[in-house]
Amino acid sequence: MYRTHTCGELNISKVGEQVTLSGWVQKTRALGGMTFVDLRDRYGITQLVFNNDTDVALCDRANKLGREFVIQIKGKVIERTSKNLNIPTGEIEIDVKELNIISESETPPFLIENATDGSEELRLKYRYLDIRRPELKDRLIMRAKFNAAVREYLDARDFLEIETPNLIKSTPEGARDFLVPSRLMHGSFYALPQSPQILKQLLMVAGMDRYYQIVRCFRDEDFRGDRQPEFTQVDCEMSFMHQEDIFEVFGGMMQHVFKKIKNYDLPELPRIKYDDAIKYYGSDKPDLRFDCKIVDLNTVLPKSEFGVFNNAIESGGLVAGINATGCAAYSRKQFDELVEFVKASHRGLSGLVNIRFNEDGTVKSSVDKFFNEEQLREIGKAFNAQKGDLLLIAADKTSKVRKSLGDLRLELGKKNNWMDPNAWSVIWVVDFPLFEKDEESGEITFAHHPFCSPHPDDMQYFDTDPTRVRAQTYDMVMNGNEILSGSVRIHQRDIQEKVFNNLGLTPEDREKKFGFMLNAFRFGAPPHGGCAFGVDRVIMLLSGGETIRDVIAFPKTAGGRDLMMDAPTIVDKKQLDELGIAVKGGL
Ligand code: AMO
Repeated sequence: MYRTHTCGELNISKVGEQVTLSGWVQKTRALGGMTFVDLRDRYGITQLVFNNDTDVALCDRANKLGREFVIQIKGKVIERTSKNLNIPTGEIEIDVKELNIISESETPPFLIENATDGSEELRLKYRYLDIRRPELKDRLIMRAKFNAAVREYLDARDFLEIETPNLIKSTPEGARDFLVPSRLMHGSFYALPQSPQILKQLLMVAGMDRYYQIVRCFRDEDFRGDRQPEFTQVDCEMSFMHQEDIFEVFGGMMQHVFKKIKNYDLPELPRIKYDDAIKYYGSDKPDLRFDCKIVDLNTVLPKSEFGVFNNAIESGGLVAGINATGCAAYSRKQFDELVEFVKASHRGLSGLVNIRFNEDGTVKSSVDKFFNEEQLREIGKAFNAQKGDLLLIAADKTSKVRKSLGDLRLELGKKNNWMDPNAWSVIWVVDFPLFEKDEESGEITFAHHPFCSPHPDDMQYFDTDPTRVRAQTYDMVMNGNEILSGSVRIHQRDIQEKVFNNLGLTPEDREKKFGFMLNAFRFGAPPHGGCAFGVDRVIMLLSGGETIRDVIAFPKTAGGRDLMMDAPTIVDKKQLDELGIAVKGGL
């Protein structure tokens, strides 16, 4: 037997017991005739003690143990003289009588501790060592608990876990497909699923009624902190449902998960309309751990000669601002940093106006030339400005102003610690538009995917003003991150036709891309809808990770590489020949 107990379970109640433990050597230290070894496994750390007075040879061997050696020991649980009450095993230690070295270790390339000295690159290369660090290990444990809680919740509500294939047909879903060449049909390719979207809808046509799957999805897009080329969804679909059913079942699932994982009573999820999220927070994924709404000023501004404001309003744009409460005393440098922030190329504002409601009761601004104090106070009313507040105002195209102020709001929130680290904001964002107009080409594209059902009240705008049509689409947003999205699907042929028409899809296009799906819908499609959680993002947020790499056992780098296995990699010519593939420019 390798062990009678794990390294995390012995405590004061076991004093006097003979035990066998196995694990990794975390560290060894010799102190006053004794040698102490911290023995680690997934469950915790137990202190071992070797006594030089009773067994010199054994103590000598203990002194030679290197970091990360795998050992087995036998000994007696004894009470420690100097206790460590921060860990569950901290009141005891093992008086070791027998030591077996199971396998030796080379010196690891970095410290296997939370405060490690290893760069991320090095840790990704030796990921199996990185996972030994408590921080990463605990996140993977949380992830397993999350999966178990999800299964428990959905199984109890008649959802069936059904697997769908990974080698499928390339279908347009928004991102680029990963392709897999066919050996038997040269020139033909499978695609890896960007999500099981179509398959789960077909399972509804098949009458399975309630489906879920904890499933890997693949998207060849530009990777960021919250995006990986392969990631995991809790993918769900249900029949004979309305949007309200989704809110109830999956809002409830989130409450269940919070209780199980954090022992936290998450209140029922509030809802915010897409239009309001954009208007007040400049984002379709607002972080509502703090308020600080965007205030529109077009109709509030006193008349002035200030061209920046006047031009924006005259050209159909927006003047709006936010109240940075308590920031009136910002230095010139601090304010300039905020200006640079909104001037960054992806935000593109030309500047910011500030109005300072000083603690001494005076009001000053960067536009004192155009507005007198009374007028500034008038503007301040729209923000409910108090002594100590700093108003930051922008004027430009509406979408630019909203996006920039939304980002600025978050930046100020971070700088000023406005987000309570123990608070959670988990909300539904509802009533998304069905179509989006591409800003550059002016073309109409689907905002989500082409099977989202339009809002029944908006069918009247379909032909006249399609961007006004709302979709029965919803996102769940957690602390400003999109963690779920889904929709009620179209199950009526005529409506599907209408959507395809608006998207400019020819009958040939439809047949080629979605023919198999449209065929299935000829055989009795129930009303249905569903959603998918981004598991990696949820765990990242629940565990305090900084990127989703922190919660994936073997992730890719931001450049899409697997540093441990060294993938992607060049393959043999023979393999390519079998697939009928020649690499442009040669291997
Ligand atoms: P969507 O594409 O919005 O919807 O994806 C659902 C959720 O998956 C997460 N996600 C990602 N996580 C990590 N890396 C990525 N590259 C990545 N892309 C998406 C996000 C997102 O909210 N089939 C639809 C769902 C439906 O309509 O039922 C879908 O896949 O958290």
